[in-house]
Amino acid sequence: RGTFDFVVAANRLPVDRVTEADGTSRWQASPGGLVTAMDAVMQGQSAAWVGWAGDPGEDVAPFDRDGIRLHPIVLTADEVRGYYEGFSNETLWPLYHDVIVPPRYRRSWWASYQRVNTRFAEAIAKVAAPGATVWIHDYQLQLVPALLRALRSDLRIGWFNHIPFPPVELFGQLPWRRAVLRGLLGADFLGFQRSNDAANFTRACHQLLGTSSSGDTITWSGAEDGLIGAEPRRTRTATVPISIDFRSMDELARTPEVRRRAREIRASLGNPQTVLLGIDRLDYTKGIRHRLRAISELFGDGAIAAPEVTLLQIATPSRERVSAYQDLRSQVDGQVGRINGDHSGIGATAVHYLHHSYPKEEMAALFQAADVLLVTPLRDGMNLVAKEYVASRWDGGGALVLSEFTGAAQELSQAFLCNPHDIAGLKETILAAMREEPASARKRMLAMRRRVRSHDVHAWARHYLSALEAAPQKPNRR
Ligand code: G6P
Repeated sequence: RGTFDFVVAANRLPVDRVTEADGTSRWQASPGGLVTAMDAVMQGQSAAWVGWAGDPGEDVAPFDRDGIRLHPIVLTADEVRGYYEGFSNETLWPLYHDVIVPPRYRRSWWASYQRVNTRFAEAIAKVAAPGATVWIHDYQLQLVPALLRALRSDLRIGWFNHIPFPPVELFGQLPWRRAVLRGLLGADFLGFQRSNDAANFTRACHQLLGTSSSGDTITWSGAEDGLIGAEPRRTRTATVPISIDFRSMDELARTPEVRRRAREIRASLGNPQTVLLGIDRLDYTKGIRHRLRAISELFGDGAIAAPEVTLLQIATPSRERVSAYQDLRSQVDGQVGRINGDHSGIGATAVHYLHHSYPKEEMAALFQAADVLLVTPLRDGMNLVAKEYVASRWDGGGALVLSEFTGAAQELSQAFLCNPHDIAGLKETILAAMREEPASARKRMLAMRRRVRSHDVHAWARHYLSALEAAPQKPNRR
């Protein structure tokens, strides 16, 4: 098998390289939701996944795993710095998340991003069968659609943005804004998390490229661009909010092991009346500092007190070589230390703070041990933690405090919605979630469960792929 009918391209492969104590290494499935979703659509098809192997500089041959061909892209240490840490995570990530921290614009990072996107396009062009469907993921690969189309006009090309797409007033800061839009317009179909993201993209194309659009289809003559011919091209956009594997999370949460572990967690915390929980990647978009400020004031006001109420905050290490993430870590360390210094007692810890990542089983137990989950991002494409919490609460218990600035808030309208910038409002919302009558709390949770159950990750992938198949064909397709 040299070529494949269905090709997925994402920055990361669905496996991580783990090195054992004796120096040997092996591949371990990575736990992400994307992996589960893609697995379901790739099984039974001739399918390949193109992605970064993780380690810099190591040459790894393509290999098969669970019936899928994995095709590693090798990055040099320089490219990890320029393409991944630099352009993807110091330029695009903050720019696409409302410039919560200032994006940094560096020409050498852009050059690296172009180089790595070209390598992805070349790799896909090599493994895709004639007329194959290619699904490209996320902000790290925005140039791939047009680069790939130039190499292979026979392919059906889709891209999905897992993160927000910013308003043109912010996007316009990017020195390479037109090249990025042109890169994306190489696709037949572009999927976004929220209708605002799709609208922001369409408006950016109008203002910066002079495209026209009718309904959900953008038309562009492309005359100014050498890569794409003078014939008008059409790209369809749609809102396709991502989800989780509801059933497997629900089933996992019902197992006796997870239930026992949930009781154990509460007992280890001293069986408090109320366990508040936060679980996030340690990222400045997640609103962890705003959340801690609200919690600190609630302790300070005497509205809550340890040991009756405790916050368990889990922060998963992320992008640790990027300075904004290092800064955030020391700020959070400081805030937690201050809250505990002021408001903890012996055997009465105000905030339990853990900088670790945990397996799914432990996450399910944590969700069940929590009375209130605090999801307070300043901006988030979706936030799958909110959906995983809902799927774990088969008992109908628990309450969800959810920021309006997440994609999830568009679907989980029965959550306790909040504006994390409004600290007084956030405090009130946390107290309201704690004090809600069990019967109405249960009603909210069951309604949210119905939503996530019927709009799970499999429905998402089906919806995306049928929209991709239905998108108008590019004029130069064979
Ligand atoms: C977000 C992005 C993903 C990314 C993930 C983890 O969810 O949308 O593309 O993989 O964060 O970040 P990392 O940089 O570790 O891959």
